[in-house]
Amino acid sequence: MQPQAAKNGLYPVQSPFQLPISLCQPMFTIIENVSLRAYNSFHMDVKSRYYAEVKSTEDVHEAIESGKLAKFGENGHLILGGGSNILFTRDYDGLVLRVSNKGIESHFEEHDTVFVTASAGENWHGFVTWCVDHGYGGLENLSLIPGNVGSCPIQNIGAYGVEVKDCFHSLEAIDLKTGEVRVFSKEECRFDYRDSIFKQELKGKYIIWSVTFKLNRNAQVQIEYGAIKQELSDLEIDYPGISDVSQAVINIRHSKLPDPEKLGNAGSFFKNPVVDLKFAGKLKESFPNLVSYPANGDKVKLAAGWLIEQCGWKGFRDGYVGVHESQALILVNYGNAKGSELLTLAHKIQNSVYDRFGVKLEMEVNII
Ligand code: FAD
Ligand code: EPU
Repeated sequence: MQPQAAKNGLYPVQSPFQLPISLCQPMFTIIENVSLRAYNSFHMDVKSRYYAEVKSTEDVHEAIESGKLAKFGENGHLILGGGSNILFTRDYDGLVLRVSNKGIESHFEEHDTVFVTASAGENWHGFVTWCVDHGYGGLENLSLIPGNVGSCPIQNIGAYGVEVKDCFHSLEAIDLKTGEVRVFSKEECRFDYRDSIFKQELKGKYIIWSVTFKLNRNAQVQIEYGAIKQELSDLEIDYPGISDVSQAVINIRHSKLPDPEKLGNAGSFFKNPVVDLKFAGKLKESFPNLVSYPANGDKVKLAAGWLIEQCGWKGFRDGYVGVHESQALILVNYGNAKGSELLTLAHKIQNSVYDRFGVKLEMEVNII
């Protein structure tokens, strides 16, 4: 059977219609009262009233057609990837759908350009490693970011001078009302700093099912970010390739960021605020050490970690909740914290930064 062409001219990674019956996944089942502790990087010990894993498009269609999704209403279901950008503040009284489809395929090459499609349920770092091992460049600066492929477009993940939009080609998503598959181009995703259409008007309306990246066999490595340059120099690498850059980023991240397996966290809790040039200039007069970077247009990005540290929060701890001792942008769970306690701390931090600098910090983490 010929594979079914997708609307963007590429081929879907997994067409369940191509699989022999014997290879089909077990039936889609919803189970009740499931602990989500193992499924979120803050390790919040909350329960989901209903929980199911979706491994195939058939599972998603079954969930829709059976009315199980409609039963819980538009706000009564939550799509879960790796749970590394979510703070659960309560038990979830609806249906959690954990995306678990697998598969990576490079399927179209033109000169040095390679199009690679990965299923949403693939682990992000595993996928980046696969690309690096195949010599496909573009994503190496995004090594070791926790989470799954399906979530990478949601907030346009970024690190060390690269954002996912830089290598993004398109994605396939399933409409949770109709079951229809829709292809989104890069423009339709409306990517911005830690933002996309899936955090705005399409929030919760689609399951992102696979993402296609445009990579390069002969990629120019991006090593302008100071920390990468320094790490490569420490490693005595003068002419880095993509695997060197990936390793440098892994080393930096190991040295700077807490491992969620050992200390519950969700990375940066807040976005770096983007403010007007004029406002930033005034702030700099009062606070000459203000850390800032040029952003698009007449905008300036402020280092939220610096603002929070200046307010005295770095290393703060109250019971099981705290602010990381070497990165003030990361809130941590020292053991048995409740999500509501972390949220209270986040609000206090927002208030003190606003009182001191007049800057509103927006949460990056999704609060449930
Ligand atoms: P989840 O937390 O499971 O979900 C995040 C959101 O996406 C939720 O709203 C969820 O409903 C939705 N969602 C998930 N999957 C789908 C899907 N298939 N379809 C539709 N909606 C979906 N982020 C960065 O950008 N840069 C970093 O450098 C970075 N560093 C981090 C370091 C640490 C230690 C940690 C813990 C986190 C870090 N993050 C970083 C944040 C996080 O890794 C990313 O946001 C990641 O993309 C989240 O993926 P996830 O699968 O865990 O998403
Ligand atoms: N800083 C402080 N004190 C702190 C932390 C930072 O003063 O406690 C200042 C320092 O001057 C530092 C600057 O802020 O040089 C920037 O800090 P860092 O390089 O650690 O980066 P960040 O702005 O805090 C952002 C992303 C990270 C990403 C890194 C590397 C956001 C919200 N965060 O952090 O992404 O990994 O850059 O590119 O944009 C995430 O989104 O979860 C995340 C971890």
